[in-house]
This record gives sequence, structure tokens and C-alpha cells, in this order.
Amino acid sequence: MNYNLLKDKKGIIFGALDSNSIAWKVAERCHEEGASLILSNNRLALRLGEIYKLSEKINASVIPADVSDVSDIENLMAEAKKEFGGIDFILHSVGMSPNVRKNIPYPEIKYDNFVKTLDVSAISFHKILQVAWDMDILNERASVLALSYIAAQKTFASYSDMAQAKALLESIARSFGYHYGLRKGVRINTISQSPTKTTAGSGVKGFSAFYNYANAMSPIGNADADDCADVCVMMFSDLSKKITMQNLFVDGGFSSMGISEKLFEFYLEKDK
Ligand SMILES: NC(=O)c1ccc[n+]([C@@H]2O[C@H](COP(=O)([O-])OP(=O)(O)OC[C@H]3O[C@@H](n4cnc5c(N)ncnc54)[C@H](O)[C@@H]3O)[C@@H](O)[C@H]2O)c1
Repeated sequence: MNYNLLKDKKGIIFGALDSNSIAWKVAERCHEEGASLILSNNRLALRLGEIYKLSEKINASVIPADVSDVSDIENLMAEAKKEFGGIDFILHSVGMSPNVRKNIPYPEIKYDNFVKTLDVSAISFHKILQVAWDMDILNERASVLALSYIAAQKTFASYSDMAQAKALLESIARSFGYHYGLRKGVRINTISQSPTKTTAGSGVKGFSAFYNYANAMSPIGNADADDCADVCVMMFSDLSKKITMQNLFVDGGFSSMGISEKLFEFYLEKDK
């Protein structure tokens, strides 16, 4: 269903790698709702991923940027300013941990990897917001989102240092949300999404256990990438103009659960 919620809005979407990416689904939904978009990813992803298929489909420019590199972000924002003038929304859909990739146990993580995890997955959000601030590129009541995970609040074995990255990401949304709110009514929020079958998601050890456990706990079941995209559209639209500095759980109720009947049955069965 198309409600034209983003008619005449201009946005930048970071992190569409392939058609499984959450950012991919968000870009498609934003386009359906009338937005004009710029897509960005790092150069390796532009070479190995499928972003150009998406850009053709939704008629969007692609501008490379490593989100940990401020000069790349400055170049991207300068191009965006040329193309669009001001920007109405940004999605940060980027995550990467060398410790997770190399399957290093949490008590043994390497600190150079840890710094990289925090830089790419969280501090990059501050870098994007700061460059946009310096260039004053965000329009009145613009909306900025980053994608998070409940490991920011609770421990999930094998999520490793990405848990710290998500906690930092959510904190940056609150801190910068204050300053941006005062400046132009700009809103900064994070969305805490259910486990979702994507390249980054599947890179976490035991991903199918995360996925199945959350699904069995959630009364409405896991949110998929399309569900997340719908919420992003709502958050980018004017309907959410007074929501800021929040972390919104899009998780079918998982975050409020203790134990579900499905899990009772699973463990009672084991006792037989
Ligand atoms: N999949 C899940 O289960 C899940 C759950 C909650 C939150 N998230 C979050 O959603 C976001 C998107 O992940 P996804 O699941 O769609 O996976 P994905 O692999 O499709 O997307 C991750 C993206 O990050 C990009 N990236 C990595 N390093 C980068 C860098 N230095 N510069 C620019 N881009 C870089 C990758 O190229 C890729 O496009 C991430 O923040 C992830 O942590 C995912």
C-alpha cells in the first residue's frame, strides 16, 4: 500500500548491499512513498554487492563512502547538497565487527578490532551527523535513523563487541538528538530490529538460534526487513514529527517478554 507519505522528500540511505539488506527494503519503500534518494556504501560493497540494480530500479544516484572516513562523508554530503539542496531524512544501516567476523571469543577480543567495530558501527553515526551539522544540510524537521539491536540492553552470547557498538549508537542518537532538536526540530532515533536474515545478521555465530528463539518468544513473531521498512517510512514522514531521542523496538513484542508458552512447551518436552 502506498500512502505518498514521503512525497517531495529527499533522503540518503547508507548500507544497501544486496536484496536481503534492511537498507535495500527501506530504499524501495521510501521510493514507493514518493521520496528521491541517494544510496551509499563503501567501495568494496559497490564492487561486490548489487547496489546498482537497486539504484536503476528506484532511479537513485550511488555515492561511495566509507562511513568511518570523514572526508568521504564530506564528499557525499557535498554531492547530496548539489543534487537535492537540503536533506529530509538519513538512514544509517551499517554494522561490522572484525571480532565477530573472525569468531574471536568475547574475553579474548583484540582491541584494534574493537576500535574498528565501534568506529564503523557507531562513531560513524556521529560523523555523519556532525558533517551534516557543519554543512547545515538537514531541512527543518528532518528525521535521522540508525538500526540497532536489543544486545545494547541485554547480553546475547556471540554478539560480542557489537553489543557495545549498539549501546553507543543509541546513546549518540540521544545526545545529538538534543542538539539537533533545538536547532531545527530535527529528530534522531534508533530502531531496534528483530534478528533478520541478511549478510550482517547471518555473520553472527548461531544466528538461527537468535532468530528462532526471538520468534518463539514474540507474540506477533519476528519483524522482517519489510516490517522494519514500514516503520522507517513512518519515522521519516511528518506523522512522527514529535518523536525524537528514542529507541523504538520493532520486534513483535520480544523486548517485553520473559518466557512464552512456546518456550514452556520446548523445555517441558525436554524434561520428559
Ligand atoms: N540482520 C539483523 O539480524 C539485524 C538486527 C538488528 C539490527 N541490524 C542492523 O541493521 C543494519 C544493517 O544490517 P543488515 O542486517 O541489513 O546487513 P547488511 O550486511 O545487508 O548491511 C550491513 C551494511 O554495512 C555496510 N558497511 C560495512 N562496513 C562499512 C563501512 N566501513 N562503510 C560503509 N558501509 C559499511 C555493508 O557494506 C553493508 O551494506 C546494521 O546496523 C545491523 O547491525 C541487523
